[in-house]
Amino acid sequence: MRIFITGATGVLGRRLVKELVSRGHSVTGMARSPRGEDTVRFLGGVPSGADLFNSESLLPDIEGSDVIVHAATSIPVKMRLKPEDFTHNDRIRREGTRILTDCAGKTGVKKLIFQSVTWVSRPEDGLFFDESSRPNPDRTTASAVEGERITEEAADKYGFIPTVLRCGFFYGADASHTRVMADGIRRRRFPIIGSGENIWSNIHVDDAALAFVTAAIEDLKGVWHVVDDHPVSVGEYFSLFAQKLGAPAPPHLSPWIARLLAGGYTVGLLTKSTFTSNRKLKNASGWAPRYSSCNEGLDQIMQEWKSEGFF
Ligand SMILES: NC(=O)c1ccc[n+]([C@@H]2O[C@H](COP(=O)([O-])OP(=O)(O)OC[C@H]3O[C@@H](n4cnc5c(N)ncnc54)[C@H](OP(=O)(O)O)[C@@H]3O)[C@@H](O)[C@H]2O)c1
Repeated sequence: MRIFITGATGVLGRRLVKELVSRGHSVTGMARSPRGEDTVRFLGGVPSGADLFNSESLLPDIEGSDVIVHAATSIPVKMRLKPEDFTHNDRIRREGTRILTDCAGKTGVKKLIFQSVTWVSRPEDGLFFDESSRPNPDRTTASAVEGERITEEAADKYGFIPTVLRCGFFYGADASHTRVMADGIRRRRFPIIGSGENIWSNIHVDDAALAFVTAAIEDLKGVWHVVDDHPVSVGEYFSLFAQKLGAPAPPHLSPWIARLLAGGYTVGLLTKSTFTSNRKLKNASGWAPRYSSCNEGLDQIMQEWKSEGFF
C-alpha cells in the first residue's frame, strides 16, 4: 500500500514510518525541515515538503496514496498551560484536517486515519466511558472533536473510510512529556495533586503506533480507543514511576495550591479520571498491547534511558 503520513517526524510518526516500511509498504512522510527530511529518509520513507495548510502543495504528494494518517499535532509541553498555547494545535486539527480530508477526497484516497485523544468524551463524574459515550470536550479538546467530525463528514462526501484512533495518555522513552515528568519526579517537583485516586488509561507509544499500523492495513472504520489493559490511579502511576527511577515517593499537593502554581488546565489534566478500555479494538482486530500495563511499559523505558544515559 501507499501511505501518506502527517507528523511523520514526531514520536508517533517516526514509529509508524519505520513499522510500515518494514512491512513492505511505501510511505511518504511530511517533514518541515531538512533534519525532518533526513529522519524520514533514514526510516525508509520518502519525505514530503508539503505544507499542511496549503492544498496546492499537498495534492501532488498525496496523489496515488491508499491511506492517509493524520498524526501531526502541536501539544504544548510545559507545566503552566494557557488556552492560547493550544492555538497552533487547534489550527492543525481544524484547518489542517479540513484541507487534508479535501485533498484525500480529490485524489481518491481509500482511508483516512485521524489521531485523537480518549479524554474528548470523559464524563464529569470520572466513571468509565467508551467509544459510544457522547463527546464532552473542554477548551483544549474541542478542536479534536471537530477534527473527528470533519473527518467523518468528508468521508460521507467523498466515500473514503474514516478511522478515528483516540489514544490514552501515552508515554515513551523519547516522548517529551514523559521526560519532563521523569525529571520532575526525580526532583520532587511533580507531586500527586489531591488524593491521586483518579484513574488514567495509558498506552505505551510503541503500542499506540502498532494500533495505527493495524488501522491502516485492517478493515477498521469509526472510533476506537487505544489504551492498555490495566487502567491505574494517578497516585499509583506516579509512585511506580518514582520507584523505577529510584526517586523518593512523590509528595501530595492540595489542588488549590497546585492551581496557583500550575494553573487550572494542568490541575484539571492531572486530577480528572480518563477511565476507558481497549475492548472494542482488541475484539475487532489483531491488535493487543505488548505492554499490557504501565508497570511493563515503564520497565522498557527505564532500560532505554539507562542505555542512552538519560539517567
Ligand atoms: N495521548 C497522549 O497522551 C498524548 C500526549 C501528547 C501528545 N500526543 C500525541 O502524540 C503524538 C506525538 O506527540 P508529541 O507531542 O511528542 O509530538 P511530536 O513528537 O512533536 O510530533 C508532532 C508532529 O507533528 C508535526 N507538526 C507540528 N506542527 C505541524 C504543522 N503545522 N504542520 C505539519 N506537521 C506539524 C511535527 O513536525 P516537526 O517535527 O516538524 O515539528 C511532528 O512531526 C502527537 O500526534 C500528539 O497528538 C498524545
